[in-house]
Amino acid sequence: MITKPKGTVDIMGDDSLLWEYVNNVVNTMMKYYNYEYIRTPIFESSELFHRTVGESSDIVRKETYDFKDKGDRDITLRPEGTAGVVRSYIENKLYAEPDIKKYYYNGTMYRYERPQTGRLREFTQFGVEVLGSNDPLIDAEVISLQYNILSALNIENLQVSINSLGDAESRNSYRDALVKYFTPHIDELCEDCKERLKTNPLRILDCKVDKDSEILKNAPKTIDYLNKESKDRFDKVLKYLDILEVDYEVDPSIVRGLDYYDHTVFEIYTLDNNDGSQSALGAGGRYNKLIKELDGPDSYGIGFACGMDRIINELKKMDLYKDIKKEIEVYVMYVSEEEKLHAIDIVQSLRLNGVVCETNTLEKGLKGQFKEADRLNTKLLVILNDEDLKKGLVNVKDNATKEETKVDISEVVDYIIGNL
Ligand code: HAM
Repeated sequence: MITKPKGTVDIMGDDSLLWEYVNNVVNTMMKYYNYEYIRTPIFESSELFHRTVGESSDIVRKETYDFKDKGDRDITLRPEGTAGVVRSYIENKLYAEPDIKKYYYNGTMYRYERPQTGRLREFTQFGVEVLGSNDPLIDAEVISLQYNILSALNIENLQVSINSLGDAESRNSYRDALVKYFTPHIDELCEDCKERLKTNPLRILDCKVDKDSEILKNAPKTIDYLNKESKDRFDKVLKYLDILEVDYEVDPSIVRGLDYYDHTVFEIYTLDNNDGSQSALGAGGRYNKLIKELDGPDSYGIGFACGMDRIINELKKMDLYKDIKKEIEVYVMYVSEEEKLHAIDIVQSLRLNGVVCETNTLEKGLKGQFKEADRLNTKLLVILNDEDLKKGLVNVKDNATKEETKVDISEVVDYIIGNL
């Protein structure tokens, strides 16, 4: 038997109902906030991720799925969505249009990680990228959109952990402070961190090996190195979040594992997570230098991404299935071939009029069809028999009250719609 690759999932049955439910809520909220759907390729040239996510990030160093295609090109399965959207923004010269661009996406991402609960090799993210505005209100909008989507899904006790990395000047003085702090301690840290000290000392702070060490805990905090402009900007973001009633906590330890961030960075958790895992349901931040670094103009960007698989795991704990389970509204029953011809016609008319409808395709007898209709929680039954059909009638039965009504076959669709 061929089995699925490690770190991938099949989504089916009750789980697929939850996926549909989350997708519907996400799509609706994105529309309310006026975000436009964007779809970029699942694979891109490897260079894109090296230049955006960063050579020194764990994602690019250890986790990408890289291969050569038949034309000898270096290709990478996307590990995240931001790089592709920004590439598309530049390549399609969307920056030339005067308005702000607000995009959302939903798709699979690929990271060669050690699989565990909420950590997969193929996983799904939905996210947004807003391009062209540096208004702190956009930072607050993006964070509150993420917060409100998760709230609309009834995930409780949400908390946003937020921090600011500041502008280039602030980041440089912070970098210098980190080098000064870590240099005398470097022998106590892992081999990767020794390398990180030279390439990107910020990455030491999200080291998975040394994450509990006192050295990391006592490291300088970004917030103490913000220049006035960056600090004022961050204060505005927090003020707007207060108005938007987002429950947040300033957490100076958040630096994020991707290299493209500056200014606001954030992660969102549910505090109800009693399985001990502290994994974020979503995260994001501002990346004002990235567009220029990818050969675009000097512009601004910010976004977030949420892990669908992690959100579904949360919802599974909430016993939601019964509320979202799809019900079959009508089951059309027949026995003879003549009755079946009418059944085919009625089922099609009902479906095309928006009624969720099913019929017998397993050659069951009437008894079997009644059982099937009960199993599907059907509300109304249309029971066809040759006698009634000769008079142009069909029998409609309410499956709860068991009340039966003879209806003219030409009016059955209207009758059913009126009685659902
Ligand atoms: P990220 O923190 O790498 O950020 O991922 C965002 C979310 O994706 C995580 O909080 C988590 O819920 C989910 N996720 C990440 N890795 C896995 C995995 N292996 N298995 C399951 N879920 C996972 C980004 O990807 C950035 N592109 C976010 C962003 C958008 N920043 C600006 N714009």
